[in-house]
Amino acid sequence: MKVFITREIPETGISLLQKKGFDVSVYKKDEPIKRNQLLKSVKNCDGIISLLTDKIDKEVIDSMKRCKVIANYAVGFNNIDVDYAKSKGIIVTNTPDVLTDSTADLAIALVLTCARRILESEKFVREKKFAGWKPKLLLGVELRNKYFGILGAGRIGTETAKRAHSFGCKILYYSNSKNEYLERQLSARKLSLRQILLKSDIISLHLPLNAKTKNLLNQKMLNLLKPEAILVNTARGEVLDEEYLIKMLKRKAIFAAGFDVYQNEPKLNKELFNLKNAVLLPHIGSATNEARNKMSLLAAKNIFAVLLGKSPLTPV
Ligand code: DGY
Repeated sequence: MKVFITREIPETGISLLQKKGFDVSVYKKDEPIKRNQLLKSVKNCDGIISLLTDKIDKEVIDSMKRCKVIANYAVGFNNIDVDYAKSKGIIVTNTPDVLTDSTADLAIALVLTCARRILESEKFVREKKFAGWKPKLLLGVELRNKYFGILGAGRIGTETAKRAHSFGCKILYYSNSKNEYLERQLSARKLSLRQILLKSDIISLHLPLNAKTKNLLNQKMLNLLKPEAILVNTARGEVLDEEYLIKMLKRKAIFAAGFDVYQNEPKLNKELFNLKNAVLLPHIGSATNEARNKMSLLAAKNIFAVLLGKSPLTPV
């Protein structure tokens, strides 16, 4: 059976599939696969491993003549028309859990980078401006006793909350359902989106992108933030009104923002580059050797489970 992988991923999953006897082909260029090439490549394969940069829409799904499983190499799956795939009898899987720690680590790294003005400080030293210790040099803020608002209290949100709690933050969360762990272990409080935005000193986004969360943090919601607030996004850029957030950062209506994801990724709003109070990362939430190896393995396991007639490990 043929498996197509839309870009090179760590060997772990590829060699597992080969060991199991699958005929694996990988798109080798170090760039997202072109649309025409994708449409052609998925035609005769039984399973595909796709990336979050591949738009697996109706047209792509219709061109799959015998595909039974699309294993997305990401926890997010907003790049796939899941309902349509399901209507065609194709199972869609993702890679939850294995990237939770990496992404939560990065969310906290962004918070600390914003809070302690790490980028400005680093640049200051490289520009040879460091002329000795100064009482008021590059003052930032501490995390202890700050209200830390988690938007989306799933796996990554929960791990981020645990880390924030260990820094002495008071956890607030916004979620459809009650998170027993957060409430019992971290004394977290579940609040409405409005209340969280009004009260939090730090906001970390962990919502999946879907019709309900798209532009959830619109202009009206962003205006609720405190002037000293820090907002970090390791989820999806489209969850917030990026253009308006940039305007707020420009007029210092909040303290700082950390971006790992963007509205029109990989195209970035040029205004971002001029902001001193923004930290800009290239979507590296899951970019650790540990996570990426496990993602590769999990995607492969999902493929062979389905193709060998078993249940997928992590269907969406
Ligand atoms: C995902 O897996 O959805 C993440 O965005 C990867 O960093």
